[in-house]
Amino acid sequence: MVSPSALLAGAAPHFLAPQPQPASAEQRELCDGLLDRPAHIDPKFLYDALGSSLFTAITLLPEYYPTRCEAEIFERHGADIARRIGPVQSLIDLGAGDCVKAERLFSSLRPRHYVPIDISADYLQAAVRRLRLSYPELRITAIGQDFSQTLALPPEVAPEGRLFFYPGSSIGNLNPDQARAMLQRIRRQCQGGGLLVGVDRIKPSEVLEPAYDDALHLTAAFNLNLLRHVNDMLGADFNVDDWRHVALFNSEQSRIEMHLQALRPVTVRWPAGERRFAAGERIHTENSYKFTPQAFTGLLQSAGYHNIEHWSDSRGWFSVFSARA
Ligand code: AVJ
Repeated sequence: MVSPSALLAGAAPHFLAPQPQPASAEQRELCDGLLDRPAHIDPKFLYDALGSSLFTAITLLPEYYPTRCEAEIFERHGADIARRIGPVQSLIDLGAGDCVKAERLFSSLRPRHYVPIDISADYLQAAVRRLRLSYPELRITAIGQDFSQTLALPPEVAPEGRLFFYPGSSIGNLNPDQARAMLQRIRRQCQGGGLLVGVDRIKPSEVLEPAYDDALHLTAAFNLNLLRHVNDMLGADFNVDDWRHVALFNSEQSRIEMHLQALRPVTVRWPAGERRFAAGERIHTENSYKFTPQAFTGLLQSAGYHNIEHWSDSRGWFSVFSARA
């Protein structure tokens, strides 16, 4: 984005250098990722308003099983899970999105204070406006924040009786070291409280890959929309038509990977730089790690949690873990 420091006026033509805009931390992060080899873009940038809506649509696809599996677990084991967790003062919802998942827990967990956090602030605000009407008694503090960097809660969220809710296997976006660091950060925010986290399980790639490469191409649209969001945030000139969606299961690393692959040689420019991509070159846009219950239990233990328990759906495709901080 170029903003001239003054308007040209009078007869004497003089050149005004555009004021260099200080790049935001987000722009720097995007820039660094695009210039890396291989290039990458953090999956948190998938969630602009359109991306958040596309993700909600994905959860309705027959191929995308995680949302339904997790809902089944809460339906069948909700009472048991609530008993296990005990009294909850504040329910802190990490990556709340449309807040629908947390809403289903209100009746069993009976939180006094609901604290949804999401990077997509506008989308969150709309969801919270709807919630306020349905739950006039519930205190709600919505926070539009990228909690992947720091997890700071405002003082109005009482330190006692916190339950962190991290559903949908979003923790799978992080590599094991980042996931451990995130779990430790959560633990430091809820001493004496607890964590309820959804985790996707390892399963045959015949099931995993269609969930990330569906017949309607909604996941392709979700992935490609990232380029439009980068254009908005960075002033870049990605042409969506130059790229295709790729999703594959990397069994060594136990993760689904999403990439965008250049269909032809492409040069992308933005105010502070440019990057050339050869035909076939990829931008890595998401990892979605899959776990065995043993592996995830080990991860929770290594992050300092105890009283770890988990519940699974009837097919054993997804698990919900509860742990004490
Ligand atoms: C929201 C991170 C849990 O990894 O399954 C859905 C995102 N990416 N389809 C996932 C996603 C492609 C989703 N999470």
